[in-house]
Amino acid sequence: MKELNVTTNYQIADYDELTPLQKKLVDEAKAATFRAYAPYSKFKVGAAIALDNGEIVVGSNQENAAYPSGTCAERSACYYAHARYPEAKFTAIAIAARGTDDRWLTIPASPCGACRQALVEYETLAQHNVEVLLVGDKDIYIIPSVKALLPFAFTEF
Ligand code: THU
Repeated sequence: MKELNVTTNYQIADYDELTPLQKKLVDEAKAATFRAYAPYSKFKVGAAIALDNGEIVVGSNQENAAYPSGTCAERSACYYAHARYPEAKFTAIAIAARGTDDRWLTIPASPCGACRQALVEYETLAQHNVEVLLVGDKDIYIIPSVKALLPFAFTEF
């Protein structure tokens, strides 16, 4: 029997240490939380995706009285990005969230499993890593790829 390991290397940075594009994505993800529709959970999430055509596409969570009909910020952003710019490849995504007290989270929110699965498909289409920035009140986690968040992803398409 063989024993194998899956490890995730990531960095934690301050906003000041980010590149201009990373800063822009963080700013856009934070701004998108103010456009969340989250009357039920009161948990406001924003996502901003950088595309290789220079565009940045944002999304926020959109809830519904029929709870499962709502969608997360990451999926609203990635589905809109690919619907609007089907030829463009994703290069990075930033995700920010404010809790029920309206404050930025100390430990940043991380995409749910369904969003990881959705995002990994666009990373596969891009044929390169899509960087993931998880935005906390001070710390920004920089994860090198979506795959790093979803080892053993289903990618048979
Ligand atoms: N949510 C997101 O938008 N992204 C995540 O990664 C996790 C959760 C939303 C879904 C729901 O509207 C609210 O946050 C509470 O779960």
